[in-house]
Amino acid sequence: MNQTPDYIQELRSKFPILKTEVHGKALVYFDNAATTQKPLEVIERVQSYYNSENANIHRGVHHLSQVATQDYEDARKLIQNYIGAGKESEIIFTKGTTDSINLVASSFGGLLQEDDEILISAMEHHSNIVPWQLIARKNKLTLKVIPINRNGELDMETFETMVSEKTKIISITHISNTLGTINPIKDIIKKAHSFGAKVLIDGAQSIQHGKINVSDLDCDFFVFSGHKIFGPTGIGVLYGKEELLELMPPYQGGGDMIKRVSFKETTFNELPFKFEAGTPNIVGGIALGTAIKFLKSIDTKQAFSYEKRLLNYAEEELKKIDEMTLIGTAAEKTSLVSFNVGKIHPFDIGTLLDKQGIAVRTGHHCTQPLMDFFNIPGTLRASFAFYNTIEEVDVFINALKRSLSILK
Ligand code: ALA
Repeated sequence: MNQTPDYIQELRSKFPILKTEVHGKALVYFDNAATTQKPLEVIERVQSYYNSENANIHRGVHHLSQVATQDYEDARKLIQNYIGAGKESEIIFTKGTTDSINLVASSFGGLLQEDDEILISAMEHHSNIVPWQLIARKNKLTLKVIPINRNGELDMETFETMVSEKTKIISITHISNTLGTINPIKDIIKKAHSFGAKVLIDGAQSIQHGKINVSDLDCDFFVFSGHKIFGPTGIGVLYGKEELLELMPPYQGGGDMIKRVSFKETTFNELPFKFEAGTPNIVGGIALGTAIKFLKSIDTKQAFSYEKRLLNYAEEELKKIDEMTLIGTAAEKTSLVSFNVGKIHPFDIGTLLDKQGIAVRTGHHCTQPLMDFFNIPGTLRASFAFYNTIEEVDVFINALKRSLSILK
């Protein structure tokens, strides 16, 4: 029987918002690629921090400041351990994935010289395109784009011919937020390193769907957002190899990144603080630590492999619908479906689904070049997390059919 297993129901019960009603209907939350929901312990941690701990960190002798500092730094350790980084100093807290990429593009990219090459791919999120365009324009660098095929997979043959001694960094998404494609990042990293190029992996869509080990991957940078891994918004992570972070100049000035300031000369703090200017998102960091603890407390292997079931079932059911075009049919995919039906605008379907309590994302998903490639204005995207149920997929498919019967 195609039913949601008990361990998933049990996990689901830890996320209070999933009991919400929207427009009088039980919420079906299928917008997990945009942001994931938070387990109760993360929500409570935010509250308990403000109730009994709130203070600024790294700068107070008083008790609360010391407690908050300890908890913030403990969260850094938890993250280091969770992603398999060698050192705590390699974990930089940022505002999120976009902020992390901007930091690397500006600081590492700023070290590059005229005609050096940066490689990105045709399936990148705007956040992994524009920061590189900005630094390429400023430093007269060449930005090259690895093409994809109609299934939404990287054209690896062409990629092989694009890497050369001129390539200084490849910045690439692990999983496409629009197509769900899982990229062969290990092969990319190996190839890049054989030419001395560095690799940044945008893990915004992979960190919540599988176990990441940056040491095993041997990537030079790995970035992700806290809110996509069951933590709060406004906090993210940049992992970078220590020797690279040491080489890179500070990104922003002020606060924690300072060692000594005078009008003549300023010296900078050691890693990771060199890259953490200003009062950080303290509660965000601490509660992200709680989200990591939550993940460590559950059977993620089981949970992540269940997501595949959701994907297969949803795709199977979608394919039965007339005039269905799935956008993103890679052999290796994560649990999201992107599609169009006939000439109906995805926004219209999304609006009708919302009225039935179903949250999906419609539009270009911040990947306009990808929309140009497929020659479409946008898609309707349903993205699943392990707390979604098989029954919710049924509700979604029925609501979709109802919506299409109105719109056709
Ligand atoms: N990048 C996020 C998404 O794909 C916001 O929805």
